[in-house]
Amino acid sequence: MTNEEAFLRIDFLSQELNKHNYQYYVLDQPSISDYDFDMLMNELILLEKAYPQYCHSDSPSQRVGGEVIKKFEQVRHKYPMLSLGNTYSESDIKDFYQRIMQSAIETENEIEYVCELKFDGAAISLWYENGLLTRALTRGDGIQGDDVTHNIKTIPSVPLKLRGNYPKSFEIRGEVVMPHKSFEMLNAQKLEEGSTPFANPRNAASGSLKLLDSKEVARRKLDCILYAFYSDDLPFNTHSEFLHAAAEWGFKISPHYEVYSSLEGIYSFIHKWDSARKNLPYDTDGAVIKVNDFQLQKMLGFTAKNPRWAVAYKYKAERVLTQLVSVDFQVGRTGAVTPVANLIPVPLGGTTVKRATLHNADVMQNLDLHHYDFVYLEKGGEIIPKIVGVEHSKRLIGAPAVEFIANCPECNTPLIRMEGEAAWYCPNSDHCPPQIKGKLEHFISRKAMNIDSLGEGKIEMLFDNQMIRSVADLYQLTYDQLIGLEKVISVDSEDRKISFREKTVANILDALEKSKSVPFERVLFALGIRFVGETVAKKIARSLKNIDEIKRATVEKLLTIDDVGFQIATSVVDYFSNPDHLEVVEKLIQAGLRFEVEESATVNDVLAGKSFVVSGKFTIPRDELKSMVELNGGKNVSAISAKTDYVIAGESMGPEKFKKAQSLQIPIISEEDFFQMIQKK
Ligand code: IVH
Repeated sequence: MTNEEAFLRIDFLSQELNKHNYQYYVLDQPSISDYDFDMLMNELILLEKAYPQYCHSDSPSQRVGGEVIKKFEQVRHKYPMLSLGNTYSESDIKDFYQRIMQSAIETENEIEYVCELKFDGAAISLWYENGLLTRALTRGDGIQGDDVTHNIKTIPSVPLKLRGNYPKSFEIRGEVVMPHKSFEMLNAQKLEEGSTPFANPRNAASGSLKLLDSKEVARRKLDCILYAFYSDDLPFNTHSEFLHAAAEWGFKISPHYEVYSSLEGIYSFIHKWDSARKNLPYDTDGAVIKVNDFQLQKMLGFTAKNPRWAVAYKYKAERVLTQLVSVDFQVGRTGAVTPVANLIPVPLGGTTVKRATLHNADVMQNLDLHHYDFVYLEKGGEIIPKIVGVEHSKRLIGAPAVEFIANCPECNTPLIRMEGEAAWYCPNSDHCPPQIKGKLEHFISRKAMNIDSLGEGKIEMLFDNQMIRSVADLYQLTYDQLIGLEKVISVDSEDRKISFREKTVANILDALEKSKSVPFERVLFALGIRFVGETVAKKIARSLKNIDEIKRATVEKLLTIDDVGFQIATSVVDYFSNPDHLEVVEKLIQAGLRFEVEESATVNDVLAGKSFVVSGKFTIPRDELKSMVELNGGKNVSAISAKTDYVIAGESMGPEKFKKAQSLQIPIISEEDFFQMIQKK
């Protein structure tokens, strides 16, 4: 193939794929089979690899993702990203309508309102320059957001290149939503992996935008609906003209909007969509009413937080009545006991509800729940339903009140209640099964041993199969034991089998091996000694240097350590006077975990005399970065002052810190700059 042929073919394939993409994802009118689409895409990807000089920033091959970033850049919004004032009451909508009529008393024409749906996802700002998508920002704190361009490019309904007669430079805003189908797929996959599913499509959408690997975002099948235009000079007179034009430029605009002048019209829209929205493929949580005329919008302006020219009417959570069958008491990972109501199954918001949490003894008492009571259930934005009240008129005569239990349903130990706390606890923390699981989960968590290929689900499987009883057992696990391990889980009353495959097992064993080099202070934290958090563990480890000294330490000795008070000191002494705990520690020592501070690493003074503020999220845990500062002789401080030498900035660094560092002219460096700094020296 000659260079020219390659150029022409790449151009042809890009145009074809862009056209099919638009027809499928924006217009919802597929014009080619999935197979043929994939064939064209594969050809384009191969050609672009061979002739990278012809690969353009708007190439449809970007939809498959591939760009992995280390951290998100924080970018200031040109126009602040405000939110809408919202209400659940129709009379507030009337007030809004009348207020606008009064403010626009001189206006001769009838005032028009555009009624739209309120999409329940993550707000996004897109910038287009000369028809090309140049930047995508999340809302962030409204002043500055994260640059998520690499992720947004994978959303097939977001045009990378516009069509028709578009303005040279403008911003368009909308909502990234996760359609129900994508949400179900994602959560099924999460369950299979043993990780925690997302509570609702909104969280899943905003969580997806925060991923560093755009390939993963591409797999999540997000959608994006646009609803607002921002530019210094507006090429339209009304919002509805904008919606129409944006659709022509290739954006996905919701077809479900209407223009009304009367309050009745607005109400009819609200009423119609209260039920009709349930048939849409994504979540909506209200209707948005906007003044159509841009001149009038400008005149009405903004309050500190919201535009005066728009309001959101939020739909009330759906409410149903059903009957209580029984109450279960569940023991959580920390030993807290939660009452859970079993109900006669009832449909609510698209699913059948059979259970609902009663939270704690106080909530149960406030509801004054009696056996076989009829209860009202509500589902708000979240997937988990809530019991919001009891229908007293339907109470069975003589039905006794539901009593809270006195003993742990898992291990029969009498429950205790700490002063001032709502929850009842099981104090048998070492032998009560859910609490053992809690300890195991704490041990593997990011800030402790950071064994990320073992999640909650996998720990549960290993525990239920009696393969682990304490954290020490993790290091005895073998390939043969793990491979093919199966569990049947119930998802929406359907049984699904999950099993450990080769790769999973290899990852688990590898992560366990790696965890053996976790520094002593984190091992000490991972043991889960009551009241010994990360900082205290660090201080004790650095002061006493090794496990033998800690085991020997008296309360008095511990009290000499910074930040260690009586409660902590007695808890440490208690922990190491328990033979079961000593046995676990001994096994962990045998397994090769670190049980003393590494002296050699503590003395390196390349950063001597320099103080650092570490803010935001990084590719490694923040505490690891902080330890690196200290290991190289630097000092960590929490607040920025004139004395701070450097700010190491990560993803989602607080805007206040950013501003302060800038105003004091303190160098703001990235994680990479920092690594270079300690390497160079
Ligand atoms: S217009 C000044 N229209 O709801 C704000 N917002 O608090 C202009 N939303 O942050 C926003 N659907 O993320 C607008 N049709 C719609 C919307 C919508 C959802 C979101 C948006 C905004 C929040 C309102």
